[in-house]
Amino acid sequence: MNIEQLRADTPGVEQLIHFNNAGAALMPDPVIDVMTRHLQLEARLGGYEAAGQRAFELENVYGSIGRLINARPDEIAVIENATRAWDMAFYSLPLGPGDVVLTSTTEYAGNYIPYLQLKKLRGIEIRIIPNDEQGQVSLPALQDMLGDDRVALVSLPVIATNGGPVQPIEEIGALARAAGVLFLLDACQGVGQMPIDVQKIGCHLLAATSRKYLRGPRGMGFLYIEKSLCERLEPAFLDLHSAALLSPDSYEIRADARRFENWECNVAAKLGLGAAVDYALTQGIEPMWQRIQHLASHLRHRLANLPGVAPQDSGSVKSGIVTFTHQGHGAAQVQQWLAGQDKRINVTTSTFRSTLLDMQQRGLQEVSRASVHAYNTEAEIDAMIHALERMPRR
Ligand SMILES: Cc1ncc(COP(=O)(O)O)c(C=O)c1O
Repeated sequence: MNIEQLRADTPGVEQLIHFNNAGAALMPDPVIDVMTRHLQLEARLGGYEAAGQRAFELENVYGSIGRLINARPDEIAVIENATRAWDMAFYSLPLGPGDVVLTSTTEYAGNYIPYLQLKKLRGIEIRIIPNDEQGQVSLPALQDMLGDDRVALVSLPVIATNGGPVQPIEEIGALARAAGVLFLLDACQGVGQMPIDVQKIGCHLLAATSRKYLRGPRGMGFLYIEKSLCERLEPAFLDLHSAALLSPDSYEIRADARRFENWECNVAAKLGLGAAVDYALTQGIEPMWQRIQHLASHLRHRLANLPGVAPQDSGSVKSGIVTFTHQGHGAAQVQQWLAGQDKRINVTTSTFRSTLLDMQQRGLQEVSRASVHAYNTEAEIDAMIHALERMPRR
């Protein structure tokens, strides 16, 4: 990879060391340019007229996302964030009393709360797939659990918001397919970071966001839904974009995945998402994944050698999200210290509220999270380690 070019494309790296790519990564110039140009066009022409001028580019966003995850453009819906994309999929599934949802200990609270809501409203049952000794979903346990014909859905994140393992999603997908069970994949922390191929994974539905490892703008995301399922699935919400009003008594839902979208959208951000996907594809997802894993393993190694610091990620494959605890300091203090004065190093804090099952199981209240991207460098990691070494003792 041409790291110098990657950094030259990323104005933010001149100002700070950004290890919060799992929160929101620094946008590269092509993304910033397409969005600012579009906002200027809106100011000069009017919002609808500007979108009309960019109709071709807006259509291409679906093709770009399709290339990123190996899907057809008509299997993609562009939705304002991963949460709403996921919700549109989950709440549209015909889950009823006694239907079982299988999820992982690493599930995101934003997804787990909807499971609890449908447990309350529709009587579904939630079961947690145990982990194997390395900390990822146990495939033999999953296979066993899939033997119960009340299981209607497997739903989990490929990478948790608080790091940990990269789940074996191709194996999980194969088991779900063999059992005839739907697989909803939360790829929010995966897209842009690692290869995500819906054909290889065999997931039926996938939700993702723009602003994290894809390096797109905030307030954008997308949903993938397999074509044959899309045609059968009535969205939980409809409007005049997802459906057409034919008469005072009838409507027709559109055939493609855009039946899960709604009319109004941030057009500049949608173009920004498209530019971010194109940028990632130009860099090459596989080389970026290799570099992210290399930097993350360098960072884990350096952290492990710091007195009082314990890296916290498990799993046979680990991602760019590096988590650790510090014996002498809380995660908020670590975050504040690294950001402070002339250091300007962005890390963040993951609390048990966003991944409660996993944190409870590991007896953790919170972890510090330093999430690296391909544009980060070993020198930046060394600067963070040096800053941690200088952290005053309490
Ligand atoms: C694993 C996971 N899933 C879903 C989400 C929600 O994404 P969004 O904020 O784009 O709705 C996040 C955000 O941190 C996440 O880490």
